[in-house]
Amino acid sequence: MAVSAYFIPTVNLMGAGCVKEVGERVKGLGGTRVLIVTDKGLAKLGMAEKVKGIIEDAGLQAVVFDGAEPNPTDRNVEAGFKVWQDEKCDAIVSLGGGSSHDCAKGIGLLAANGGKIHDYEGVDKSTNPMVPLVAVNTTAGTASEMTRFCIITDTSRKVKMAIVDWRVTPALSINDPELMVGKPPALTAATGMDALTHAVEAYVSTAATPLTDSAALMAIRLIAKYLPAAVANGTNMEAREKMAYAQFLAGMAFNNASLGYVHAMAHQLGGFYNLPHGVCNAILLPHVEQFNLIACPERFRDIAIELGENVEGLSVNEAAQKAIEAIKKLSVSIGIPSGLKELGVKEQDLKIMAENAMKDACQLTNPRLATLEEVIQIFKNAM
Ligand SMILES: [Fe+2]
Repeated sequence: MAVSAYFIPTVNLMGAGCVKEVGERVKGLGGTRVLIVTDKGLAKLGMAEKVKGIIEDAGLQAVVFDGAEPNPTDRNVEAGFKVWQDEKCDAIVSLGGGSSHDCAKGIGLLAANGGKIHDYEGVDKSTNPMVPLVAVNTTAGTASEMTRFCIITDTSRKVKMAIVDWRVTPALSINDPELMVGKPPALTAATGMDALTHAVEAYVSTAATPLTDSAALMAIRLIAKYLPAAVANGTNMEAREKMAYAQFLAGMAFNNASLGYVHAMAHQLGGFYNLPHGVCNAILLPHVEQFNLIACPERFRDIAIELGENVEGLSVNEAAQKAIEAIKKLSVSIGIPSGLKELGVKEQDLKIMAENAMKDACQLTNPRLATLEEVIQIFKNAM
């Protein structure tokens, strides 16, 4: 068997109220002047000020940079790095979902290594130890608060750069479900389906290991059970807490087993049209996995079982097919759009996006190899 590595932050806080520890924790990592990287929405809601207060109560100084946009760009990273330099910061706290964490990782890369963010596209391109980074998560989720993945849009190429670098793994992650309560149903649905996609792609990945399998299967089980409840009523604390665990487990799985064509293709939709990552994944997921089915039908049967399907008396292939149907049912039940056309995706762009998807780092571990024509066809099926 090939050698496998397992990446995860050193400390991971879970549970209601754990954000109160952020100040002492960043202090423990040696931070004295903290750059808080967040988005305008959270700044407006007063959440950035609240976290700033907790950090200041620990005797540290903090400054807020709220320029992390959805699908964060090279320009966002540069703007944040300028604040880091001007304010002479020495630690970062990211506050938000994937966009804030990815932008913070990008800023951290420049702070530790210099150069331009484009220099780090690919796998393990940085050379210096990362600056102290604590990631406070508010969605469930991308799991970016605990992964070595950093996705930044190159605005000149309209491509999402996949930066996969063990050094960008946050030193410490914080998942406090009380910070997730206010998320609207559509965002809860989209981010939850992103987490499901992480778990499914990791479970059928060619780099899956027993460590990632156990995390992926539990994530799938929890998402099937608690995502509809979290969408139906955002104040359901049990559903929010279980979804926080589920997205973290899915992160443990894909951070180490990597992903597949769903993410490789969704990154293109995000880069090209600036569409929400979770929605793109949710729409593509059943179509990509239908294509993947023949590569590992036993694995898809396992997924069907975790999604709550009764597979008794069915052949392996019939049971595997149930997984695809269950994913579609889940998507419909939580209001995911039915196709890419609804999002404004145009047929004439599919070829270039398929070409770029085949260069994305996430496609390397997909269980079935596709030709360019097949990737285009999957896009078409998802229209
Ligand atoms: Fe994702």
